[in-house]
Amino acid sequence: MEERKKNLYSAVQPTNNLTIGNYIGAVQNWVELQDGYNCFFAIANMHAITVRQNPAELRQHTLELLALYIACGINPEKCVLYLQSHVPAHAELCWVLNNYTYVGEMERMTQYKDKSAKHADNINMGLLDYPVLMAADILLYQTEAVPVGRDQRQHLEIARDIAIRFNNAYSPTFAVPEGIYVKGGAKICDILNPAKKMSKSAENPNGSIFMSDDRDTVIRKFKRAVTDSEAEVRYDAENKPGISNLLSIYSVFSGKTIEQAEAEFAGKGYGDFKLAVGEAVADKLTPIQAEQAKLLKDRDYLNGVLKSGAERASYTANKTLAKVYKKIGFIQL
Ligand code: TYM
Repeated sequence: MEERKKNLYSAVQPTNNLTIGNYIGAVQNWVELQDGYNCFFAIANMHAITVRQNPAELRQHTLELLALYIACGINPEKCVLYLQSHVPAHAELCWVLNNYTYVGEMERMTQYKDKSAKHADNINMGLLDYPVLMAADILLYQTEAVPVGRDQRQHLEIARDIAIRFNNAYSPTFAVPEGIYVKGGAKICDILNPAKKMSKSAENPNGSIFMSDDRDTVIRKFKRAVTDSEAEVRYDAENKPGISNLLSIYSVFSGKTIEQAEAEFAGKGYGDFKLAVGEAVADKLTPIQAEQAKLLKDRDYLNGVLKSGAERASYTANKTLAKVYKKIGFIQL
């Protein structure tokens, strides 16, 4: 008998341009996982508004992200691809779960602390509540697997805690999700400051490689990447963070293992290595960008994907929500 496929859920916020960190830590991994799981991939626009967004840009980034998902190889026929705000159950379950989450737990979240420091003039309730909405996202789909980057681990832990707390208070209602992290790529670092993660909103855009960067920009940025004084291409995350980060990137984009990459550059200088990293990344990004541009011209197709995604996502989400409402004592018509 064929084994039941497990449910898998993940999402990206449509804020700014995605970086190759988002690609390696998340989207690229989803493409590999899509055949083995029942997949739900969202565009987390409700999370995005926890920091101020320009409405026209948010709309544009949403479509760009949808087109990028598909251009990267996510198949909207196999996977449920949808926009978070199209499924009201997310906001509804978030409200319920708020009552099973403690303010102290939320105030301890690293991302909340970082974002409140960065946006000190706008420490809003949404920012504090961000992990509960994320828990609602995941738990609505009876999710067993969540492929994310390392920076989302704390949020995933709290989603598990909330699920277990609710299940214990009533009876088993939610699947308890597990994280899936890419080996070596779960935290891609800024190429100018390898102590920091590569981010969509980095102060210096030369430290991040964006999925929209053209070939010359990619190669130029990698040429300037920070290395060390040793002149040996070897993986040692602790002592050689710059080179190790470039090796992780090269490995994903060239399809070679770290060991194969080390052997390829044995005896060669950092200049050759950095050029090869730039070329491998540009070679992969160019066709993705072309496909994304083509898809963006076909608004009818993209709208169709969103419509079908919203319907399929709502079906599963509403089943879980109905179960929750029943358990907590809400009368349903
Ligand atoms: P977001 O939009 O910040 O990031 C999207 C994904 O990219 C991963 N990521 C990285 N991976 C490796 N190296 C990096 N430098 C790097 N930077 C980002 C993130 O870990 C993430 O997997 N809260 C989520 C979106 C979300 C979500 C969810 C995820 C909303 N609901 C439910 C999973 C399940 C976020 O901010 O992602």
